[in-house]
Amino acid sequence: MTDHFPPNIDMETPSIARMYDFLLGGKDNFEADRKACEALADGIPELVSFANDNRAYLSRAVEHVAAQGVEQFLDLGAGLPTANNTHHAAQRANPRARVLYVDHDPIVLAHGRALISDSAETAFLLADIRDTDEILGAPETTRLIDMDQPVCVMLVSLLHCLPDDSDPFGMVRSLMGRLAPGSCVIFSHIVSDDPDSATWMTDKILSFGTPWGRVRSPEEASVVFEGLELSSPWLDGRDEGPRAVDCATWRMPGSEPRFRPESPEVKLWELAGVAFKR
Ligand SMILES: C[S@@+](CC[C@H](N)C(=O)[O-])C[C@H]1O[C@@H](n2cnc3c(N)ncnc32)[C@H](O)[C@@H]1O
Repeated sequence: MTDHFPPNIDMETPSIARMYDFLLGGKDNFEADRKACEALADGIPELVSFANDNRAYLSRAVEHVAAQGVEQFLDLGAGLPTANNTHHAAQRANPRARVLYVDHDPIVLAHGRALISDSAETAFLLADIRDTDEILGAPETTRLIDMDQPVCVMLVSLLHCLPDDSDPFGMVRSLMGRLAPGSCVIFSHIVSDDPDSATWMTDKILSFGTPWGRVRSPEEASVVFEGLELSSPWLDGRDEGPRAVDCATWRMPGSEPRFRPESPEVKLWELAGVAFKR
């Protein structure tokens, strides 16, 4: 079914938004996206749980941040809407929460607007996250986001989509520098400390012709937290062990936070953390 897709969509080249939608069990994807996911799953058998663990982390992290009193969310690289979107999670903890969804994929904008109509609490913006000035100056942003109040910048499963020459971490540093104290990041990033696995995944995605960045090491990805104060990944807030952890274990009931997956067979995971500007 393609009748509900916007015109001029490239259906032959897999898109990250549509591949992720497929992995989460969605229907807004094409054969090229499904085949790309199958090819990736050959080397990463846990790919579906990988995506679902990340999405579940997003909800837990948003609820956590909203419960700390943050009311404004800039969901960068938001992806296609699913059952439990950022404003649902945020408004569970704080009914006054407002969310600006930003993505560069036109399908996200079309489906976002169809499924979640713009309201006093939400809007969708089609933009490349590297265009910070354009995003911060857009009418959708100025309507929803008060720059004098804390903002939660969401970078969930996003920065590995950007190559090093885009300077993704410099972009985040400069964005955080413009936000009020009490602002924070919700972050996850595909990482590996096995260079062969990292290269395999990166090369595989680039071989589809899909614009992408790369899998980074946990140390490289952790640069995002520089100058910020990481929250405890424990449900009870205790101060013990690493604070950036495998997303599947971040404030996960019944699980201890772990820096990397329990099984040494699992070479790739999403490093996750929530960090505040004080
Ligand atoms: C893996 S999905 C993650 C979706 C959502 N953040 C989540 O974690 O559930 C990555 C999303 O980032 C978007 N994206 C990638 N590069 C982008 C860019 N330069 N500007 C805006 N969005 C981008 C993709 O279109 C895709 O929807």
